[in-house]
Amino acid sequence: MGLSLRCFLLLSLLTLTAGADFLDLNKASGRTFFRDSNRAKGSAAAGWDHSVRKRSAQPDASCDALQGFEAKLENNTHRHTFNDLSGSVLLAWVGDGTGVILALTTFHVPIFMINLGQSKLYRSEDYGKTFLDVTKLINNTFIRSEFGIAIGPENSGKVILTGEVSGGHRSRIFVSSDFGKSFTHLELPFNPTSAITYNPENSDVLLGLSNKRELWLTKDFGHNWIKIHNMVCMVKWGTKNAIFFLTNRNGSCNARGALEIRRTTDFGQNIKTVANKIYSFGLGGRFLFASVMTGEATQRRIHVSVDQGDTWNMAQLPSIGSDQFYSILGASNDMVFMHVDEPEDDGVGTIYVSDDRGTVFSKSLERHLYTTTGGESDFTNITSLRGVFITSTLTEDKSVRSVMTRNMGGEWTPLRKPTISNCDSKGKRPEECALHILATYSTAMRLNVPMLPLSEPNAVGLILAHGSIGNDVSVMTPDVFVSDDGGYTWMKALDGPHHYAILDSGGLLVAVEHSPDEPVDEIKFSTDEGQCWHTYKFTEEPIFFTGLASEPGARSMNVSIWGYKTSILNQHWVSTTIDFRDLITRDCVTRDYVQWLSHSDNISDPSNGCILGYRETFRRLRKDSVCWNGRDYLVSTELTPCPCTLYDFLCDFGYYRKENSAECVEEPDLQGKMLEFCLHGREEQLRTQGYRKIPGDKCEGGTIPERKEIDLSVRCVSDLLGPDMQQKKGNSTTSVAIVLTIVIMLLSVAAGVLFIKKYVCGGRFLVHRYSVLQQQANENAAEGVDNTLDDQLDSEHGVNGKIDFHDDSDEDLLQ
Ligand SMILES: *[C@@H]1O[C@H](CO)[C@@H](O)[C@H](O)[C@H]1NC(C)=O
Ligand SMILES: *[C@@H]1O[C@H](CO)[C@@H](O)[C@H](O)[C@H]1NC(C)=O
Ligand SMILES: *[C@@H]1O[C@H](CO)[C@@H](O)[C@H](O)[C@H]1NC(C)=O
Ligand SMILES: *[C@@H]1O[C@H](CO)[C@@H](O)[C@H](O)[C@H]1NC(C)=O
Ligand SMILES: *[C@@H]1O[C@H](CO)[C@@H](O)[C@H](O)[C@H]1NC(C)=O
Ligand SMILES: *[C@@H]1O[C@H](CO)[C@@H](O)[C@H](O)[C@H]1NC(C)=O
Repeated sequence: MGLSLRCFLLLSLLTLTAGADFLDLNKASGRTFFRDSNRAKGSAAAGWDHSVRKRSAQPDASCDALQGFEAKLENNTHRHTFNDLSGSVLLAWVGDGTGVILALTTFHVPIFMINLGQSKLYRSEDYGKTFLDVTKLINNTFIRSEFGIAIGPENSGKVILTGEVSGGHRSRIFVSSDFGKSFTHLELPFNPTSAITYNPENSDVLLGLSNKRELWLTKDFGHNWIKIHNMVCMVKWGTKNAIFFLTNRNGSCNARGALEIRRTTDFGQNIKTVANKIYSFGLGGRFLFASVMTGEATQRRIHVSVDQGDTWNMAQLPSIGSDQFYSILGASNDMVFMHVDEPEDDGVGTIYVSDDRGTVFSKSLERHLYTTTGGESDFTNITSLRGVFITSTLTEDKSVRSVMTRNMGGEWTPLRKPTISNCDSKGKRPEECALHILATYSTAMRLNVPMLPLSEPNAVGLILAHGSIGNDVSVMTPDVFVSDDGGYTWMKALDGPHHYAILDSGGLLVAVEHSPDEPVDEIKFSTDEGQCWHTYKFTEEPIFFTGLASEPGARSMNVSIWGYKTSILNQHWVSTTIDFRDLITRDCVTRDYVQWLSHSDNISDPSNGCILGYRETFRRLRKDSVCWNGRDYLVSTELTPCPCTLYDFLCDFGYYRKENSAECVEEPDLQGKMLEFCLHGREEQLRTQGYRKIPGDKCEGGTIPERKEIDLSVRCVSDLLGPDMQQKKGNSTTSVAIVLTIVIMLLSVAAGVLFIKKYVCGGRFLVHRYSVLQQQANENAAEGVDNTLDDQLDSEHGVNGKIDFHDDSDEDLLQ
């Protein structure tokens, strides 16, 4: 699972050429206040407006509620200057609510094959207001910053830094169990090829993979290591102490399709092979996925296990060839979103959504944009509202358009543009004018998008994102848009690109203009979800801004503005931390909150607000309340079940939904065909009217189309089970098997890559990355997805920068 590994932070701030490639900026109006002229949004769509306006007691409140804030903020602005010339800074928050930040700077010059490197470590205990230079704790060792700062799971206070000694021939780790206050150094008996990972359930147990592909484990936080396996190509922590790894006992990791998945649940004492003929594997939610060679040419297909690999079922997904890949876009315990690449190298594929067993998949979105070269997709889980995801499609005429779903991929629709907005008049089809969100793909294309869309589970309904309005994604300078209802309505919040952060569970938003070429001295903030923005000049001497840093989890009131200053002789890092607590002194009380029905775009419709079978009413802060939610703020919600409608169902296998219709129709190719598949070693026949309940949908009564899986009492085996594994199962009499009529649907090429995208961090130890990295990522992206296993594994660890670049983490390129 790599939970802890992912949760390290990684904020790399590079100096100098920062963003020289970027387009010109639209200068935002830098006045003391500015009031958004779109404030009267929604007046043209009365129904939609309701849910928005009811949260504001005075809909026409002006933006001057916070007068005289400058003096208060000035008293709470703390500047720290680092006497440090390093090119990058890595930041990590250690623990939850501890205020501890570690900042690691690394200076690295390769001269004649010798790495001349130097690292410095700084530590803050007050949310970044002051830092102490604690470099002596790491004894001037060069820290391999590409492995990040590995923060332990939960609130363990554990930290691991991996250092290089004797010119890179040996490795040493520095471990801390007291939130980075003290470090112990331990020699490693191997040279790691990636960051050390924590067992998510016991932070004393660590795994390391050596550059000779040996798998090493320690049970006492790094003091004693044992080698548990050779020739390990990839390793992941599962749940309940399980370790899954991919190996090729005789050969090399390049023998794709001939690898084995092995598992140990007792830290290496007993190791069992759970699958072979493997091309790659991945974990998502409670599912273990493996892509398995089918035996037909280079074709492979996905098999899934929900019992840690003891039993496998073949997933009803197309098999693919070597020039294609699978990617797990998102997974929960109920379902996964799986992207299946199309055979041609045209950057599109199809999103399928699974049932709760991970075996039956329905087509959810065609022409999903996913570059084969860099592995970029705009797929974004909107964590502030259940069921909402945003991504992009590539139309036949090669334009990129954003779409969103509110019901876990049941339907995808364009995003409504703000009511008051002009569409690009050059558009050929004005009726198709919509809002387009710029996400990972746009940053990879080096559009001027400094941040990915931002949402937080505790800031209900809130989304901040860069976007443009038109028929498709515009390459012009984007603006910042805000939605306060999970993406149903949007308003333009800021002109031009910005860095932004959510503080105090959504009660406070902050933004700094993205201007790589010009120094900045202003930060903007809003207490009403982006309607009114106040501007505060945080410094007399403008800095070259590189990024905002606030504690992951969006509960803080402290935000740091990182940047650097240049003088004739040198450059140095400056961090300015602003504590907003003195500005917003009043604690929120009951009357500051209102009831808000989510997913309600039309209050006059009785089925309004029903998503996935229930309505959810949240207690939310009034927009015009200027008060402090507090660190302990809990999202409170009331659920009421809804009667089922066709919208609570996905189209079943072999059916599809016509545009703008709830009804599922049969795919012409499959008409009259009986659907059979292999489940738990038995052949099942699917009798369906074309509907399948959305996993996690809780609707009761209403319309429930019939669906049955009939056991045909015929044994079957999946391709996965090689001869030796069948024997273990015993009495398998029926010789060969089976059957998937479904193959008709499937595309006909072979093997590839399994990508996994997880959202395991829950934002705790969030990753901050700044625009400069995009450049690197993009350069490296050109290497493509279809490279060797080793490259893939490297990229998983961020060596080539690919990983570093996705916010919030986590794209594993699996093999
Ligand atoms: C700022 O701090 C000074 C001294 O610490 C104090 O006298 C002054 O009243 C403070 N100003 C505000 C606006 O709180
Ligand atoms: C730092 O390095 C020196 C020389 O290699 C060594 O003697 C000393 O024990 C080290 N100190 C720590 C705290 O690791
Ligand atoms: C490894 O090689 C040996 C001898 O060449 C062979 O007997 C054994 O089956 C091989 N094992 C695997 C897992 O391929
Ligand atoms: C989306 O994010 C939410 C909130 O973090 C999480 O509970 C859910 O499992 C995620 N869903 C998917 C499919 O990734
Ligand atoms: C902001 O930082 C201070 C320490 O400087 C800390 O006491 C306070 O709890 C922080 N505020 C929040 C909301 O995290
Ligand atoms: C809202 O719902 C009502 C009742 O279903 C319907 O008549 C009306 O057209 C809907 N309005 C909008 C704006 O969708």
